Amino acid sequence: MGSELIQITLANRPGAPRPAAGSPGEAANFAPWHLVDGRIATNEACGAGPSPGPANAHQPPETLATSGALKTFYIETFGCQMNVHDSEKVQGVLLARGMIPVEDHAQADLVLYNTCSIREKAAQKVFSRLGTFRKGRSGTRKAIAVLGCVAQQEGERFFERAPQVSLVCGSASYARLGQLLDQLEAGERRVTGLALDTDECFETEMTRRDNPFRAYLTIIEGCDQHCSFCVVPMTRGPQRSRASDKILDEARRVVDQGYTEIQLLGQIVNAWHDPSPARLSFAELLSRVGEVPGIRRLRFTTSHPRYFTPDIVQAIDANPILCDQVHLPVQSGSTAVLARMLRGYTREEYLEKIQGIRRARRAISLSTDIIVGFCGETEEDFEQTLSLIREVEYDQVFSFKYSARPNTLAEGSRDNVAEEEKGRRLTELQELQRQIQVRRNQALLGESFEVLVEGYQARLGQAVGRSTTNRVINFPGSPEDVGRYLTVKVTSAGPNSLVGVRA
Ligand code: 5AD
Repeated sequence: MGSELIQITLANRPGAPRPAAGSPGEAANFAPWHLVDGRIATNEACGAGPSPGPANAHQPPETLATSGALKTFYIETFGCQMNVHDSEKVQGVLLARGMIPVEDHAQADLVLYNTCSIREKAAQKVFSRLGTFRKGRSGTRKAIAVLGCVAQQEGERFFERAPQVSLVCGSASYARLGQLLDQLEAGERRVTGLALDTDECFETEMTRRDNPFRAYLTIIEGCDQHCSFCVVPMTRGPQRSRASDKILDEARRVVDQGYTEIQLLGQIVNAWHDPSPARLSFAELLSRVGEVPGIRRLRFTTSHPRYFTPDIVQAIDANPILCDQVHLPVQSGSTAVLARMLRGYTREEYLEKIQGIRRARRAISLSTDIIVGFCGETEEDFEQTLSLIREVEYDQVFSFKYSARPNTLAEGSRDNVAEEEKGRRLTELQELQRQIQVRRNQALLGESFEVLVEGYQARLGQAVGRSTTNRVINFPGSPEDVGRYLTVKVTSAGPNSLVGVRA
């Protein structure tokens, strides 16, 4: 295989490489001062506590009374790829207004947090960030907006909990963001966008894509599954699928812009149904997007096992553009626990799907999500999860301790596995998976595969590439390699990444 294939140049790349909003570097960049009317001011009441004191709870924040006051913005994103992509759309809206992004919240007129509420710990993050902006006793302040899942979950209550916030907007209302900002600039003190079931979330005038290599495309919003642990139906609303012609238009557009990799997104991506007369199946959609001239890699996430049909594997087999990688969250290896989670499949049915994937002509890399310590999970149930992990041999497992979420069906059940025991189970599971990953990665020694180079670490002289199976491989390279497709041979392997040389 030749080494050079296509290089993404700055001219055709929509955004220069920069750390994604929310990267640790940026998050650590907090300072106890901010811009007031273009001047730096100290924030007297700035505190690091997680939530503002109740004393301010019923006092509305001071307003941005002057029109056009919001000139600069800072955005931080928590959570899943859907949120990352939503933030790209939000940035598109802000840039179209002529606003300028800044790398430090201290310099921003508008600070936005795009939040995640999938687990309690994730939801708390925004409150600890907001502690930085505790209301001062006097003076005009910057505007603070809370977007995403915690915004949707808390709604108007957010203003009670965090009076320094002036805009609360859920993901289904981002198309209205411009209008909400107009209201703020016109002097309104508290504005909200909390509709849950709009289709407007798909088509945006402009998206500022942060990832220079991978274009995300939302194809389905919301979720109707109501798994008993999961807050998503409450925060992202009912399932809405985007029409296939619109998806194909956007796919062609991003390829024209220079992207060669596309990732189709949805919380339940393979439950996508074509609302247009074309009535494509999800597998047909994959094939059609995979035929867009110029595309080299197509991924999709996250699949639900219930809708993972054999035609998806056939589509992957038929077109090498479709990456040999499937993320298929199992959540538990115990049929009894799966039933209480309302997942809609048994352990055996899940394993049948896995066998179907394993029978593909190309070896397909598998990853999953697992929750340990769900309500009533016994030691035996947990052992079944471990045995499923041994049987499937995933390449990657994302594992979490169960945390009860508001308004979910399991919220009323007894969260009766002790925190310490959840921790023990998590550690045991992660150790087992680490060993599996070491073994599976070491089996790749001496093999060569194509990587898309996504970064370069100058200190180490190392390029960082990603394989079609989503494996990360480091190899001696140069800054010019970034954006190229190269062939690399594996020379050593750890649990989470590989090391190689140009083949
Ligand atoms: N507690 C712990 N983990 C959860 N997840 C979803 N809801 C919860 C919860 N209440 C995990 C699931 C899901 C992943 C994105 O987060 O494993 O697939």
